[in-house]
Amino acid sequence: VTSTPPDPRHPEISTRLTARFKLRYPIINAPMAGAAGGRLAAAVSRAGALGLIGGGYGDRAWIDAQFDQAGDAGVGCGLITWALERSPEALEAVLERQPRALLLSFGDPRPFAARIAAAGVPLICQVHNRADATLAIDAGADVIVAQGSDAGGHGDLRRGTFTLVPEIADLLAVRAPNTLLCAAGGVADGRGLAAAIALGADGVLVGSRLWATCEAAVSDAMHAAAIGANGDGTLRTSVMDIVRGLDWPARFTARVLHNRFTQTWHGREPDLRSRREQVSRDWIDGWAAGDPERANTFVGEAVGLIDTIDPAAAIIERMGAQAASILGRD
Ligand SMILES: Cc1cc2nc3c(=O)[nH]c(=O)nc-3n(C[C@H](O)[C@H](O)[C@H](O)COP(=O)(O)O)c2cc1C
Repeated sequence: VTSTPPDPRHPEISTRLTARFKLRYPIINAPMAGAAGGRLAAAVSRAGALGLIGGGYGDRAWIDAQFDQAGDAGVGCGLITWALERSPEALEAVLERQPRALLLSFGDPRPFAARIAAAGVPLICQVHNRADATLAIDAGADVIVAQGSDAGGHGDLRRGTFTLVPEIADLLAVRAPNTLLCAAGGVADGRGLAAAIALGADGVLVGSRLWATCEAAVSDAMHAAAIGANGDGTLRTSVMDIVRGLDWPARFTARVLHNRFTQTWHGREPDLRSRREQVSRDWIDGWAAGDPERANTFVGEAVGLIDTIDPAAAIIERMGAQAASILGRD
């Protein structure tokens, strides 16, 4: 038997994640509601990472259209757990599409775990602290994603990626050694991927960096706003949830770029609640127009590491090559 020589363009970073999901790179794209449609998820899977559709609050028609668009690329899907509690039929809609994995985030995954296991679909749980991780272990998660507070989009501000990941790695080593671990929050290049592996993760879940791609469903103006910003330019806030009338549990805020809207309303939440009817029309119109001042650009502190909008495959290959070089595997 002759072994295939290593391909210098695709240095190996094999981990338990690449073995379990048959990937070339230990990278998963974040299931970013709205931004991660079928086009991005398919591009990520075709590049040799794991593509996930951002199923968000569970809009069935939208989710179906994204799976159709992804075709035979082999993609999974993410859903927001507290929204699923209110519309459990969204889970059936996703399972019917035979996703490569299902990611649950922002809530207790245990009530849904048996149904997902019965469908033979790997369960990924995104967690934000150690207590969440114990719920995910009890749910029998195949993969736990430990998300730190520098992450873009929704999350919990109380734990940072750099300590949460090794703490959960230690917990899993004792309580659930077959459960894999990914780091999320601030991973935007090969340095972040190498650091995650050094901290004990089997891979990474990448949001903001893959949001800044040609395949993401993001307006040119929001992409331009992100390119123009640096890591100091974000905040965690709830104002965009208040204005949309979304009933997020209080512990979860979202990281977005500072803009006119956050400057006006962050810190004035009671006032915003009382004037929601008036203010929401402008936000919703701004969102539909992709306007980064009237609506919000959801990105993390990693925005300071993003200078270009590239094809997803180029970002994944670059991240893999840089991490392999840092880890001495090239
Ligand atoms: C635009 C955007 C939308 C997001 N939407 C979701 C979502 O619908 N469900 C979810 O589990 N996480 C969502 N997230 C959070 C990601 O899953 C992930 O934790 C985060 O992007 C990781 O940090 P990073 O942005 O620094 O890579 C979103 C993130 C972004 C940037």
